[in-house]
Amino acid sequence: MTTFYAHRGASTMCPENTMAAFRQALREKADGIEIDVQLSKDGEAVVIHDETVDRTTNGTGAVKDMTVLELKQLDAGSWYNQACAGETIPLLEEVLKWIGGTELKLNIELKTDREPYPGIEQVVIDAVRRHELADRVVLSSFNLETLRRVRDISSSVSIAVLVWDNIDGVVKCARHLGADAIHARPGFMHTAESLRAEAAGLPIRLYTVNEPEDLKGISLQFVDGVFTDSPARLRGKLGVV
Ligand code: G3P
Ligand code: CA
Repeated sequence: MTTFYAHRGASTMCPENTMAAFRQALREKADGIEIDVQLSKDGEAVVIHDETVDRTTNGTGAVKDMTVLELKQLDAGSWYNQACAGETIPLLEEVLKWIGGTELKLNIELKTDREPYPGIEQVVIDAVRRHELADRVVLSSFNLETLRRVRDISSSVSIAVLVWDNIDGVVKCARHLGADAIHARPGFMHTAESLRAEAAGLPIRLYTVNEPEDLKGISLQFVDGVFTDSPARLRGKLGVV
């Protein structure tokens, strides 16, 4: 059965990476949510896609230069819709606490491809352990060094290699890292690497799938998971209950 992850929450209906988007994902009967994590100036894991707050809040500046107190004063909803004004940037802690009261899976993407955020791996793993959610969490990153550090800290936490178009050799690399899955764009399924992944028993999850055509003719039976901005709408279009 393919797992439907709400990408940045149900981000078509609500502002991405906010509690509103996560609650909407639950209402849409997603199996899980995907979130992006960066590190504040005072070392807290915060849930926001970009390295700056400019696009998705009413503030400006780099996440790494702002404290949690400063980040929490920003409005993370009104850029999307005035009705969503008052949403804030969630802390990873808040999301984990909320997830604990649901049965949702959680994909935490460590956004270290542009900012190194020293120590982010330990911060995230400590939080996941504190909330005893390791069996429902997968950590992913485009940054292989980040994934290596995650694996050094925990031999058991589930990790996924994220690829954009750097596909060649990804299966070898994933096996070397002790990764549990590959998160790729749908075109990956038409490459030799997807056959290698299958032979290696590595599940493949695809992003971002919003329309049936985005699957590029691939049957869901070959796909362990999809990341979508609209879980209910995609399920309906695909005829998946
Ligand atoms: O995890 C898949 C996807 O979220 C990666 O791209 O830019 O949406 O974080 P992006
Ligand atoms: Ca992401």
